[in-house]
Amino acid sequence: MDTNGIPVMEPDRQYYFINLCKEQFFDIRAKKNRELTYCVTTFGCQMNSHDSEKLKGILDVIGFSEQEDEKSDIVIYNTCTVRENANQKLYGHLGHLKNLKQNNPDMIICLCGCMMQEPHVIETIKQKYGFVDVIFGTHNIYKLAELLNTHLNTKKQVIEILEKSEQTVESLPQKRKYSFKSGVNIMFGCNNFCTYCIVPYVRGREKSRKPDEILDEIKKLTDRGVKEVMLLGQNVNSYGKVFDYTDGKIVQIDDDSQITFPELLEMVCQIPKLERVRFMTSHPKDLSDELIEVMATNDKICKHLHLPVQAGSSVILNKMNRRYTKEHYLALVEKIRAAMPDISLTTDIMVGFPGETEEDFQETLDVVEKVKFDQAFTFIYSKRTGTPASAMDNQIAADVVKDRFNRLLERVNTISNNQIKRYEGKCKDVLVEEINHQDSRLLTGRTGENITVHFKGDQSLIGQIVNVRLDTCKGFYFIGEQI
Ligand code: SAH
Ligand code: SF4
Ligand code: F3S
Repeated sequence: MDTNGIPVMEPDRQYYFINLCKEQFFDIRAKKNRELTYCVTTFGCQMNSHDSEKLKGILDVIGFSEQEDEKSDIVIYNTCTVRENANQKLYGHLGHLKNLKQNNPDMIICLCGCMMQEPHVIETIKQKYGFVDVIFGTHNIYKLAELLNTHLNTKKQVIEILEKSEQTVESLPQKRKYSFKSGVNIMFGCNNFCTYCIVPYVRGREKSRKPDEILDEIKKLTDRGVKEVMLLGQNVNSYGKVFDYTDGKIVQIDDDSQITFPELLEMVCQIPKLERVRFMTSHPKDLSDELIEVMATNDKICKHLHLPVQAGSSVILNKMNRRYTKEHYLALVEKIRAAMPDISLTTDIMVGFPGETEEDFQETLDVVEKVKFDQAFTFIYSKRTGTPASAMDNQIAADVVKDRFNRLLERVNTISNNQIKRYEGKCKDVLVEEINHQDSRLLTGRTGENITVHFKGDQSLIGQIVNVRLDTCKGFYFIGEQI
């Protein structure tokens, strides 16, 4: 306890503020004589979606109800800044929120996530968006209740951005979108510094969670009905590495108590009630033979690998600091497919990195032709201030990039449409997720390969794993029948 009687240690401190918020918002609710609502909008990757579940968990416990409408009492934007267009979009949305707040002056607007870790964004918000109430970053999302409390007490704009994670706070509430599947962080941050990428600057240094904490969380989830977990990290293949970050340096240290990612996977698979394990994202440079073997021999591990290649030219890969070559990537794919012939391989590809020539781009197309990805997410290189690539010569003209992007997209789509057809007629275990949005007689689920299938069935099957024959391929998804 500090001198004001507030617990110093987490998570007790946050539970203290959650309880305080309960009381404060209870009064506001009584005054308004209605339920208080919140709306969380999430941009970006799985990490951010998972963070949003933690924010929602806290607001639920305080006593708010979630809704999709931004006409809510608390509106949170959990932002992404991986590409430039995200910034402009956010400022557009804020204009809309300002109007909403005029009708509900008690509305609390919060901004958080990766974009908030950029000092120029904070400056802009301070200067032009005074109506934003609470601003925090990626290292302190667990403090939502404390920051709301400060805002309620001061009625001022509250800004708290930390440069690094001071601690990982375990055991706070989490609201899951689905009762039967959940994301689980296994590590935070990233040490790879790919030269185009802003993530290491906004998410901080790589830090693995302790195996016990991960296993404990998953066991608790399975006790509450979770059948599938997605282990989350920017580079799960480097899980378990321990670093010394004193003086701003990154020095890997030997630590016998740590385990590798494949070892963690095996331990996770031993949790009895858990039926499926996925993970995201794998960096090709760290993908080990051990991982391939563990994946191939363990039925609980979904046969899907998201393995971002980014580019096909070894010259460009080198400039990107990806630390693998085209040949290394192709050999890796061959090894993976030799061990798991039916595996689904997906990827991220970028075009227009500084200095990319037409020949370099042809190398990217060559990888696409050779690997035949089941799905590829394609991006136009976006210059991020502060990254090494933003200062490189030979930034590529927009029309050249657009042309390459279109050619890439055409190849990627044609190939993945053909690829997915190889599952036609096969029977697969499908985790049933929801009633089909278009046709309520159908259920929608996913195979281990992450292929969507719609089939006739009763809603009582939601959350169950059932065997479904993939009858008709409709582009990116299948119509099937339960066996
Ligand atoms: N940690 C993951 C990627 C996270 S970011 C990995 O290493 O693979 C998700 C994707 O966004 C990246 O794979 C990359 O393709 C894309 N991306 C990242 N920075 C980008 C930038 N500056 N411009 C365009 N795309 C970018
Ligand atoms: Fe970005 Fe590279 Fe880290 Fe992925 S591995 S988050 S692309 S720096
Ligand atoms: Fe975006 Fe942050 Fe993820 S920048 S891609 S939300 S780690």
